Amino acid sequence: MLCVNVELQERRYPILIGSGLLQEEKNYPINKGERVMIVSNPTIAQFYLDTLTTTLEKRGAVVESVLIPDGEKYKTLESLNLIFTALLKGNHGRDTTIIALGGGVIGDVAGFAAASYQRGVRLIQIPTTLLSQVDSSVGGKTAVNHELGKNMIGAFYQPSLVLIDTLTLNTLPKREVNAGLAEVIKYGAILDYEFFVWLEKHIDDLVALKQDALQYCIARCCQIKADVVARDEREKGDRALLNLGHTFGHAIETHLGYGNWLHGEAISTGMMMAAALSEALGHLSISDVSRLEKLLARANLPTVSPDTMQPEDYLPHMMRDKKVLAGKLRLVLLKSLGQAYVATDTDHRLVLNAIRRCTQTD
Ligand code: NAD
Ligand code: GLY
Repeated sequence: MLCVNVELQERRYPILIGSGLLQEEKNYPINKGERVMIVSNPTIAQFYLDTLTTTLEKRGAVVESVLIPDGEKYKTLESLNLIFTALLKGNHGRDTTIIALGGGVIGDVAGFAAASYQRGVRLIQIPTTLLSQVDSSVGGKTAVNHELGKNMIGAFYQPSLVLIDTLTLNTLPKREVNAGLAEVIKYGAILDYEFFVWLEKHIDDLVALKQDALQYCIARCCQIKADVVARDEREKGDRALLNLGHTFGHAIETHLGYGNWLHGEAISTGMMMAAALSEALGHLSISDVSRLEKLLARANLPTVSPDTMQPEDYLPHMMRDKKVLAGKLRLVLLKSLGQAYVATDTDHRLVLNAIRRCTQTD
């Protein structure tokens, strides 16, 4: 088992990573008689809810669960309310622990429920997608969507434990695994050249879900994210670097409608656009851009714009990004592979050219 700590003083917490952790009683900091509410969805529950419930009961916990429907479109106040209703009907007090068992959607909704139920109860994250294991379960961002915007209602609320059982990835659809690899590659590109080189050697093992490679990789990504969060919990500075490719990628997601391209797929093409722009600004070499492209392609990820989207479609969406300040675009770009920075007020013509370079021509 590997362990990474998120160093936030009195809110410090461990991330445990290994295979089969879900069914090891000793991993749960729950005492006899303590109450637990597991939040999940039917897709994930069919594989893992019984195992988790049995393991917690062996520890003496009193376990209940609530399922919300599966999908981003249910990341809503209505789903949040389902959780509150289950908690209130069961007379749960502040001593209850909420466990999020699922991907980023479950983690974000259950996390916000934990942040707000009776002004805050203990939260344990058990992420079951690669994206949630390397990104969303770590760092305390929780939220639901509003019909006028994604992740618009939420809180920063850190869990007290993140438990990553890498065997859960065996039931995850391959397309979702690949989408998670986009975020993995992102970490190498923004902050860790050595890890980028490691990925070039081991990407096939990750695609094939080889356990040793997976565990090393997830721990490395969690360590990078933990370091960033410890420096900048509330995204006043460095945390923004985690958004490489996201401004372009969000434009794709919004334009196509959520769910047509997975988030990681949109981020993959978005990272290529950021790399093309970084090259135009004189930071990356053509060969750096090509290394990123090859790595993404080996993870079966798209590297060009969807064929139903024109280069001119991007900027209007991009100008609504949360990083836009005083009407000026702020983009995460690369100084080199392994070193990202935030560029302010980049010339829109250069942005458009970079998008054109990543657009299918035939
Ligand atoms: P997801 O939670 O929708 O999961 C993807 C699909 O896989 C779902 O159908 C889910 O039911 C299924 N699934 C999950 N685990 C499974 C397993 N082990 N076996 C079989 N099926 C499984 O998607 P995601 O990519 O994990 O998360 C996306 C969400 O994460 C978005 O809402 C995004 O906003 C959020 N997010 C949050 C942060 C953060 O810092 N809080 C960061 C990145 C993304
Ligand atoms: N996924 C970006 C962040 O946690 O800040």
